[in-house]
Amino acid sequence: MERTLVICKPDAVERGLVGEILGRLEARGLRLAAAELRHIDAETAGRHYAEHEGKPFYAALVAFITRSPSLVAVLEGPPETWKLVRSMIGATNPADAPPGTIRGDLALVTTENLVHGSDGPAAAEREIAVFFPALAEGATGAGGPGDLA
Ligand code: CDP
Ligand code: MG
Repeated sequence: MERTLVICKPDAVERGLVGEILGRLEARGLRLAAAELRHIDAETAGRHYAEHEGKPFYAALVAFITRSPSLVAVLEGPPETWKLVRSMIGATNPADAPPGTIRGDLALVTTENLVHGSDGPAAAEREIAVFFPALAEGATGAGGPGDLA
């Protein structure tokens, strides 16, 4: 099994499209391993989007992803699940995303493109550790800092 991080971004929650988006991924055959409605703070946004720091759109991206709650989820499936998810999401600019993809069917502009999916196995591992440290590879399960017991 392989896991990847999916974020239904603030625009998806605001527009009531979380069920539609997760429903498509589940209908394809992927399974939810974790899911949480979370208002992402600036520090977490900075860690998640570290690769984009310094780019012209970075400040607007952090403002967007922190403006209201997101639905953060881990999806699992066969090898290359990250690639399956990315192909279902479609191109970053919805104008380049074909009909049948999430962005191609439901989004209009790059700044509000509804959903994030990890772009490879290393990104998936890093991003899952940002949002769900207890699920990260190497996590022991019991007795860690996230343990409520
Ligand atoms: O999300 P994806 O991996 O397809 O794209 P990215 O290149 O990793 O960019 C991350 C996010 O930054 C995008 O999904 C957009 O929300 C935002 N972005 C933007 O607002 N303007 C751009 N020119 C590029 C990205
Ligand atoms: Mg990306």
